[in-house]
Amino acid sequence: MITSEKESVKIAHTKAVRSINVGLIGFGTIGTGVVKVLKENASVICDKLGCELVLKRVADRDINRDRGVKVDDGVLTTDAKDILNDPDISIVIELVGGTGIAREFIMEALEKGKHVVTANKALLSTHGKDIFKKAAEKGVDIGFEASVGGGIPVIKALREGLAANKIESIYGIINGTANYILSKMTNEGGKFEDVLRRAQEKGYAEADPTYDIEGIDTAHKLAILINLAYGTYIDIKDIYTEGIASISQLDIKYAKEFGYRIKLLAITKSVDGRIEARVHPTMIPAHHPLATIDGAFNGIYLKGNAVGSVLLYGMGAGMMPTASAVVADIMDIARNMNTGALRRVPPLSCPEDAVRAVELRDPESLEIPYYIRFLAMDKPGVLSKISGVLGKHNISISSVIQRDRKIGGAVPLVVLTHNALEKELRAAIAEISTMDIIHDKIVYIRIEENLGAAN
Ligand code: HSE
Repeated sequence: MITSEKESVKIAHTKAVRSINVGLIGFGTIGTGVVKVLKENASVICDKLGCELVLKRVADRDINRDRGVKVDDGVLTTDAKDILNDPDISIVIELVGGTGIAREFIMEALEKGKHVVTANKALLSTHGKDIFKKAAEKGVDIGFEASVGGGIPVIKALREGLAANKIESIYGIINGTANYILSKMTNEGGKFEDVLRRAQEKGYAEADPTYDIEGIDTAHKLAILINLAYGTYIDIKDIYTEGIASISQLDIKYAKEFGYRIKLLAITKSVDGRIEARVHPTMIPAHHPLATIDGAFNGIYLKGNAVGSVLLYGMGAGMMPTASAVVADIMDIARNMNTGALRRVPPLSCPEDAVRAVELRDPESLEIPYYIRFLAMDKPGVLSKISGVLGKHNISISSVIQRDRKIGGAVPLVVLTHNALEKELRAAIAEISTMDIIHDKIVYIRIEENLGAAN
């Protein structure tokens, strides 16, 4: 029988491959987890795939440190080129992190026609466009489930399970370190620095923990979720980002009194055809499911126009949960290889030429309630001065608390507002900050009352 060249390629692809060689670059915490999962779950993985995953090479600068997991002789190398130049390795796992050498490794792997799996949210949120374009040009797959939500399959959920929906909103607790810090401060009254140190010891924090604390890591992950939800490439600079460094025990205590919890949220919403993209500490009702998500757990609460509300919950950081997502991506690619269905689902769920720019909503046009904490002089007329400025800016007060003891001659004065325009709020705070009755930086926290309902 004569077969055309095209047909013979197809036949070769549809034949079950008996083993697939994988190369891992980066043998750190997550890399170690990946090796453990591949070893410990080898038989279940093999049964599910109908083929074996062979970890052919592992590259790291340090190949002498004991990671508590053994690899076969000759597998370790200090040179990533041993993986990138090996024609027998089909899937490259990049777990180096950062946007420098990791980008070069990924681009070279793609250029050489290798499939890539990465957990690198910083890289994908800043250079995703080039990377995904290169993968499309080369007809290869790229998996990035571990880049958002650790072990939670949120990428797969958005890309496949919820593909039929218009995504109306996403509220995410997607940084385990920040959530660990805020929940320890809330539940145990721990001090910020002590709790951060514990998160670092547990391997949750980024190499530079300011990424966790300043909301940068959350913004990276939100960018990836926005790109998936709306089929776009958002510029990370367009995500309004605030971290948790200014949250004090006082704010946590007042939040509880008002029936809220403070969470670092990644928020995106589609409002009148415009997309909101913001990361900041947020007060949410204590009874909302997201408010109960503590420690290094992550939660993503999203709303689709067909499905309604969906909550995804699980470990958002740490060695084994993140490795679970990495290995699932490898398995997806192996399945595509085995069935000749490469790029069955493109990275952003739509073909590269269908990716579009979206219009973003100006953060100053936000209209929600706010919590404002002043440290003000305790004397007659102070409240009326503050409320006078708020009133001038069309900000209406819903509650006031002033009952704590003096801190250096001043008392905390806490105000909750009705819906107010962010632009007016910022202007009012700037004006009040200049008054001599104010003793410290004014803290304000956005309140989200109706998560999932359009504002
Ligand atoms: N530093 C990140 C976190 C790790 O704390 O969530 C997982 O992306």
